[in-house]
Amino acid sequence: MDKNGQNLKISVVNGAVSSWKGDALVIGIYEGGEAQPALAHCGKKVENEVRKRLEEGWLRGSLGESILLPLPTGSGLNVSRLILLGMGKKESLSTESFRAIGGYITQLCHRVQIETCHTLLSLDSHHKAKNKRQHIPVVEALAEGAWLANYRFDSFKSKENKKEEREEFPFKQLHLAVPGERVSQEKKRLTEIEGIVHGVALARDLANQPGNVLNPEGLAAQARQLSERFPAIKTTIYSEKMLARKGMQGILAVGSGSQSQPRLITMEYRKGGDRPLLAVVGKGITFDSGGISLKGGEGMGDMKFDMCGGAAVFGLLQTIAELDWPINVVGIVPAAENMPSGTAQRPGDVIRTAKGVTVEVLNTDAEGRLVLADALYHASTFKPAAIVDLATLTGACMVALGSQASGLMGNDNSLLRQLEKAGEATGERVWRLPMYSEYQELIKSTVADIKNIGGRWAGAITAGCFLSRFVEEKQAWAHIDIAGTAYDTSSSRPHYPKGAAGVGVRLLSRFIQTHWM
Ligand code: BES
Ligand code: MN
Ligand code: ZN
Repeated sequence: MDKNGQNLKISVVNGAVSSWKGDALVIGIYEGGEAQPALAHCGKKVENEVRKRLEEGWLRGSLGESILLPLPTGSGLNVSRLILLGMGKKESLSTESFRAIGGYITQLCHRVQIETCHTLLSLDSHHKAKNKRQHIPVVEALAEGAWLANYRFDSFKSKENKKEEREEFPFKQLHLAVPGERVSQEKKRLTEIEGIVHGVALARDLANQPGNVLNPEGLAAQARQLSERFPAIKTTIYSEKMLARKGMQGILAVGSGSQSQPRLITMEYRKGGDRPLLAVVGKGITFDSGGISLKGGEGMGDMKFDMCGGAAVFGLLQTIAELDWPINVVGIVPAAENMPSGTAQRPGDVIRTAKGVTVEVLNTDAEGRLVLADALYHASTFKPAAIVDLATLTGACMVALGSQASGLMGNDNSLLRQLEKAGEATGERVWRLPMYSEYQELIKSTVADIKNIGGRWAGAITAGCFLSRFVEEKQAWAHIDIAGTAYDTSSSRPHYPKGAAGVGVRLLSRFIQTHWM
């Protein structure tokens, strides 16, 4: 896979300002025109210059706002320019705002052709607005935001266009200043963040591939490649023959309309000795036309993103292997293309899933739950301590939560609680939807055990209820509906460029770091 936007180096340096050489120094300004305290490290000349500009109202300090200033003569510093960068209101600072600030640094440096830059932002300690005693991990957040914003997807730009784009991408090196005693500790954290961001980039790269370029077999080939790069990952691919032998009609039926055969991809990583196993399942519909229950034309192109859950599983496994985490994980991605054709499944069809549960397929566009049914059952055969699935499953979840949180459902309160915490910490927020037993009534079928749609209301929940039928009740399981969070077509935040967000990789990395190692 391409390595898009992974050429930015970020390092931590100690706080001796006069020794820094580079194209710019970024200084943070709170909304209202107050400079960050660490400005005092820059000497009187710079301090006076900055204060004067702020008094004159050159910058208000709202989040992401910026101005460039020439270095005052005789300042004693060795950077060419000063950048004043707005941090927003002091009272609303959060980890996420520092990710955005890191993202703005990347954007700005590319735009004004800065190759190396230092920042004071990380020199002050900042605290969460809502909980004043809680420290914001500023270095981590700035680096993460800067790296996430540096991603770009230009695999399909032809040479001339690509060259242009590359010239617009001159930013190479960000130095984060920290107090001397914290340098080594922050360095270690940066290595982790880098491994995680690489996983996000892989997830984005995979998910951004259009349907004609990456089909289910293509995704399987990517899994084999991942194993080659990281031998600790063992890949098993089921093709049609094996799917049939395993009775996985859910995956087969969804794939039956396409010229591209479906696959079930399993990636095992076992470096955790006798520690419990985590299973992560991701929906891998490489394109979702709806099938015979064809979707409308508007926005159908976005359905190349219908494998964002699967892409996140790939990204997560790469992160785990790159960072050599001592854990046991199995990643499972059911991959299929949902197309209408003479061989496609029909509304009204009845299929038998690998678990033995029969399903009446009343809408072929509710295909995600059909492939996940077999994948979840397959996951359960590994006897994991927990299963987490990620899927762009329902438009209804988008209606409910928009793009600010993924939908969270499941059967194990402590697992869900841990995921909520990881969501808060990473900014990849999840929000719980109820799974009252009454909702299960909505997917009862007259001809089979269950049907694959539950009617107009509570669509995200009835989809979750459908999935719940494929895990045992005592099997801890969580379902994350990422339909609203998986991709962004507007790019309103600098660390989420247009296209696939890679959502799930940072969420589950955090979840693993805090609860599985
Ligand atoms: N992949 C879609 C869900 C989706 C919609 C994801 C929009 C991202 C953006 C899924 O396969 C689907 O088509 N779901 C149907 C289910 C319905 C037929 C019960 C939907 O949400 O309309
Ligand atoms: Mn669909
Ligand atoms: Zn779909």
